Amino acid sequence: MKVAVTGSTGQLGTDVVEVFRKAAGVEVVPLSHEQIEIGDLASVRAALTAAAPQAVINSAAFHQVDKCEEDPEQAFRINALGAWNVARVCNELGAYCVYISTDYVFDGAKAAPYDEADAPMPLSIYGASKLAGEYLTRSACPKAIVARIASVFGKSGARGKGGNFIEAILKKAKAGEPLKVVNDTPMTPTYTMDAASALLDLVRRQPTGILHVTNQPACTWYDFAKKAVDLCGLKVEVAPVTSDAFPSKVRRPTYSALSGKRLADAIGRPMRPWTEALRAYLVEKGHLST
Ligand SMILES: NC(=O)c1ccc[n+]([C@@H]2O[C@H](COP(=O)([O-])OP(=O)(O)OC[C@H]3O[C@@H](n4cnc5c(N)ncnc54)[C@H](OP(=O)(O)O)[C@@H]3O)[C@@H](O)[C@H]2O)c1
Repeated sequence: MKVAVTGSTGQLGTDVVEVFRKAAGVEVVPLSHEQIEIGDLASVRAALTAAAPQAVINSAAFHQVDKCEEDPEQAFRINALGAWNVARVCNELGAYCVYISTDYVFDGAKAAPYDEADAPMPLSIYGASKLAGEYLTRSACPKAIVARIASVFGKSGARGKGGNFIEAILKKAKAGEPLKVVNDTPMTPTYTMDAASALLDLVRRQPTGILHVTNQPACTWYDFAKKAVDLCGLKVEVAPVTSDAFPSKVRRPTYSALSGKRLADAIGRPMRPWTEALRAYLVEKGHLST
């Protein structure tokens, strides 16, 4: 099966390409931003028609939440219309379409793990543009899945954001700087290698609808940071604080953990605990030897 990947140089896309490249019976076609502009239907049609894939992973996005707030038109052009362009061409080609979405489609009011049947209510332009992308993907291509991920960490770091949370924490911890980390916004982190292997299973089985694709169970950013610091044996103070300590113009969900039950049914296995995924990441990045 031939699988095209948009956003192939991004944090998720890099590992999707790596995992799919090693998979038996899969030929991967990476599509960098230079090779496809998802906001432009002609570019999408040209790139995907040339690739002639049986499935497309659409991981390209404008996901700097502050910048999306400042430039809603661009956010909707890429995250919503871009998703529509990719899904329309997938439908024309008869390809399975995977749209990568986010926990930011929820407002956090549920305060318990969100499942796929829960009604979304985004608080930010980014969340709203991604929710529009979900709807447009599913309306343009019946053979599509929305895969929601969250709080991503991967070896290449987010291009748009310049790194990832774990690397930022470890850099400060290694410099001996005391850390203050938010402890009141539970979420479910996602290791890109684990998301990529779940996406491979999805592409092979081709379920439709929405699935939550994150490691489990819920934790706070404080739990996540403390675990990374402890696993690396760094002796630095990590203080839990509330989110008011980091004022932001962007409204974010105060609770955004995603339930993994439906994914486990869909691919016949759960995503592993985030603690194991974090250890694997630290080994892969050379922060830990085993
Ligand atoms: N990072 C997170 O914590 C997180 C959380 C939840 C969901 N997500 C979702 O996960 C997906 C992957 O995120 P990521 O962390 O891998 O992001 P990333 O590292 O910023 O990668 C995004 C990729 O998309 C490309 N791209 C941007 N605009 C494009 C356009 N108009 N046309 C074609 N390609 C374009 C970028 O290329 P250039 O850099 O060359 O422009 C980059 O390769 C996104 O859909 C995002 O919304 C991310």
